[in-house]
Amino acid sequence: MLKDFTSETSIFVNMNLSIFKTNFFNSIQTKVTCQAPSNIALIKYWGKHGEQLPKNPSLSFTLSSCFTKTVLDIIPISKGTDFSFDFYFGGKSKPEFHSKVKVFFKRILPYCPWIANHHITINSQNSFPHSSGIASSASAMAALASCLVAVEELSDDYADQKASFLARLGSGSASRSINGPITVWGATDSVEESSDIFAVPLSESDYNPIFNTYCDAILLIDQGQKKVSSTKGHQLMENHPFGMARFKQAFQNMEKLIKILEEGDLDAFITIVETEALTLHALMMTGSPNYILMHSNTMEVIKSVWNFRQETKLPVCFTLDAGANVHLLYPQKDAVHIEDWIDHKLKAFCQEGMIIKDKVGRGAKKV
Ligand code: DP6
Repeated sequence: MLKDFTSETSIFVNMNLSIFKTNFFNSIQTKVTCQAPSNIALIKYWGKHGEQLPKNPSLSFTLSSCFTKTVLDIIPISKGTDFSFDFYFGGKSKPEFHSKVKVFFKRILPYCPWIANHHITINSQNSFPHSSGIASSASAMAALASCLVAVEELSDDYADQKASFLARLGSGSASRSINGPITVWGATDSVEESSDIFAVPLSESDYNPIFNTYCDAILLIDQGQKKVSSTKGHQLMENHPFGMARFKQAFQNMEKLIKILEEGDLDAFITIVETEALTLHALMMTGSPNYILMHSNTMEVIKSVWNFRQETKLPVCFTLDAGANVHLLYPQKDAVHIEDWIDHKLKAFCQEGMIIKDKVGRGAKKV
């Protein structure tokens, strides 16, 4: 029988939300800067319910070179007014991001009530090219949440949990960008202290150190705007014909992956990671309405990865997020061989030959 994941997680959430309500109402004038990286999911979050709660647990590698840096200028305003803010991206006012940031502030107000007494100017910039197709909402929301928590000057562990909790309310995957190198978001029996309301780092004693050396070469196949947003994609999971089977599979894959990470079994790692990537896109193709985000060059790269792996036995695998770009994952010890192949054979499939070479990292920080 299939588990009713939704009712189980609701109980969990009701028990824990109040710990993030702060009594911090002080009137302050301050400036704070934080940066937070993007992340790449190995077990995918695809389907949500309630207020940004996942239908299944997800696990990701936190990246390091692809990050958002955000500066908040906070000034007191008279009490009782609604929150007010300005948003700038790369030095320019960005009214198109206003509604997303407004929804975020509305959601987090009960947990950061001091926001109502302040005007906040947000200045954000990405280290990676704008409209590269790299999911920027994860790093952007994680950087913003980190700044807000930095203002509250909380103790370290609790500050990270609260930052992840707030980031989740902006974008689910952002909850996984606060810590690193590996984080898990979503309650699962496989990871102690895992939660639907914030992400937790996987303890380094619980996985093989080879995963701390992992590289991620991001092949920019199509840098255009996505035709269907992730938010819409999550919605389409609500009545998806394979929805329940998928959520069950994600729980099982999580259990398997946790063991694989511990054992350092790279062949089994490849199988799970590629299955998750292809399942994500299969769900897009089999929903209603159905859609395809992969590009013909995405397929060419996938075929090349399979051929190269068969010929060389080197442990390189691909994963995809909700777009056409391909992330190639491999351990540092094989980077010279693998990157030589990437540069010579795969550049041709990338828009303007663009490849970003990143690696796993430690998460958000105050700068
Ligand atoms: C395919 O976190 O972007 O990248 O919560 O609506 O902001 P929202 O969705 P988002 O979804 C990310 C989906 C994914 C898989 C993943 O990162 O786990």
